Amino acid sequence: MRKTSAKASAPAKIILFGEHFVVYGSHAIMTAINRRIHVAVFLNKTQTINITSNMGIIGSYTDSKFNLIKGGKNTKEILDPVYKSAIDVLSERKQNLGIDINVVSEVPHGVGLGSSAACCVATVAAVDSLFHKPDKQWVCSKAVESERLVHKDSSGGDCYISTFGGLIYYSKIKGFKTIETTRDLSLIIVNTGIKHRTGDLVSSVKKFKNDNTSLFKDLSSYADNICQDALTAINIGDEKKLGKLMNENYTLLQQIRVSHKKHDQIAKICFKNGALGVKPTGAGGGGSMIVLILKEDKIKLTSEIERNSYECIPVKIDYDGLVVY
Ligand code: PMV
Repeated sequence: MRKTSAKASAPAKIILFGEHFVVYGSHAIMTAINRRIHVAVFLNKTQTINITSNMGIIGSYTDSKFNLIKGGKNTKEILDPVYKSAIDVLSERKQNLGIDINVVSEVPHGVGLGSSAACCVATVAAVDSLFHKPDKQWVCSKAVESERLVHKDSSGGDCYISTFGGLIYYSKIKGFKTIETTRDLSLIIVNTGIKHRTGDLVSSVKKFKNDNTSLFKDLSSYADNICQDALTAINIGDEKKLGKLMNENYTLLQQIRVSHKKHDQIAKICFKNGALGVKPTGAGGGGSMIVLILKEDKIKLTSEIERNSYECIPVKIDYDGLVVY
């Protein structure tokens, strides 16, 4: 039986340790966070896929031709993965239908918090649930294909963490391992306000690696050791150690030149106000930073960061992953 409307939501993510080095086989630690992308889909009586987002952009697709209704020149680039998510499900389910898609995001776009992956996951699930109960593994694999439109060399980690939730230890070679912990991490995300393009930063690191082969090899093995130590620190709840490891990871990101002067400004404010650890999260070059801070110091630090005109997002680990309503 076909439904006429459906809803799903999926969490955003942060990379706690190991970004960039993970592309070359080192480990990374990622977590889903309690900020979601909500997608509602409604069958319409045309053959058109209309997409509206609370980012203030609207586009429609008829026979795969894009028509800009509202938004800037990057609107198509942002909406294409959502369209691909929907049309791939419709074609897989052999349905030639028009759909209105309404996206409501609780996270800023383009600052390394995995909003496009979460949007693909929620769209695939919402459209599929018009026809039957979606299978999470299948949703994840379809979302990875759509997300590759944005991030060609994607490890697939963003879609995985958004679908299944929780905290994971990941390597491209060995795959995903859930970190079984119920302890929460007292984290704040700070948005530098500088949007980044993951692909450009991944390419610049590739160039750095090719120009500095032996240095990069050393940095990679250092990054991998940091991840292993961080796994132990998370398991035993050693926040001080975890903070120290975040700071070490930050210096590695500076060495491979994905840091930004805003990172240093934010880190300074954080250390002055008791942060245990600070680092950029994701591709860098702006984007977001994560700060580990004792619960009792969180309010003071947040107001200090906001006083310096940066957006703060307090977060918790999300264990639900994809939810279909
Ligand atoms: O900024 P984000 O969330 O797109 O993170 C990219 C993470 C990288 O390690 C730089 C790339 C990857 O595929 O893992």
